Amino acid sequence: MARITAGVTTSHVPAVGMAVDLGKTQEPYWKPMFEGYEFSKQWMKDNTPDVAIIVYNDHASYFGMEIMPTFAMGIADKYGICDEGYGPRPVPDVVGAPELSTFLAASLIMQDFDMTILNVLDVDHGLTVPMSLMFGTPDKWPTKVIPLPVNVVMNPQPSGERCLALGKAIRKAVQAYDEDLSVQVWGTGGMSHQIQGARAGLVNAPWDKQFMDDLVNDPETLQYKPHLEYMIEAGSEGVELIMWLIMRGAMGDKVDEVYRFYHVPASNTAVGHMIMTPKE
Ligand code: DHB
Ligand code: FE
Repeated sequence: MARITAGVTTSHVPAVGMAVDLGKTQEPYWKPMFEGYEFSKQWMKDNTPDVAIIVYNDHASYFGMEIMPTFAMGIADKYGICDEGYGPRPVPDVVGAPELSTFLAASLIMQDFDMTILNVLDVDHGLTVPMSLMFGTPDKWPTKVIPLPVNVVMNPQPSGERCLALGKAIRKAVQAYDEDLSVQVWGTGGMSHQIQGARAGLVNAPWDKQFMDDLVNDPETLQYKPHLEYMIEAGSEGVELIMWLIMRGAMGDKVDEVYRFYHVPASNTAVGHMIMTPKE
């Protein structure tokens, strides 16, 4: 039986990817942030999963105003790299897990989550920056990946309740897969950030830290936080955090918190990162 062995959350700030790609991680501005991921890189070496289901959002890099799926799942054997802004990062292609992802997509649809099926997909910084933070700069990524893009960039976005429930459905689906695989679920994005407008650069550290506490201890209440609160308290892009709820739903009722890191600033946002493991 496949097992969910851990959950990871992390911000996916594109400038962090640039710092990696341009060899700037030891510069004074970036060093304290990258030091916060040293524990995680070692932990990931010791706990490399067979497959990581990476919940992230596309930033109108591959999708766009024309087509924007609410919840989608890649079922391909390989994913190319794309991006907005700085352009595609020089990172290895992402290797898929077509058999498992096809099974999961079918299971989720049977559980009433009507996933858009992606036979072709290029992934942007929402997915590649977390990979760099967890794995560094290998020639080949050490794990297979199932991309799970979520729309958090255009109205209407899915509710927190729906996100937590999707995570629970992912847990059921993984546990029904008849092969002994270690599977992690990652939720990327956040924390508080607003990248344009009068409040650009907004960072609300107390709100972010409470969100992390609630994600561990009280996701059943956290799921009801309205999108407007994310926007008011955490900035116009803070709603990316609903993707962390999908990861949390996949962990089951109780978790052990393995690691937490919070750092300001990176670009003009707060960086938050957690590792947790299911208790049962
Ligand atoms: C920025 C972009 C993002 O997608 C994000 O999640 C955080 C920061 C940025 O442009 O700084
Ligand atoms: Fe983003």
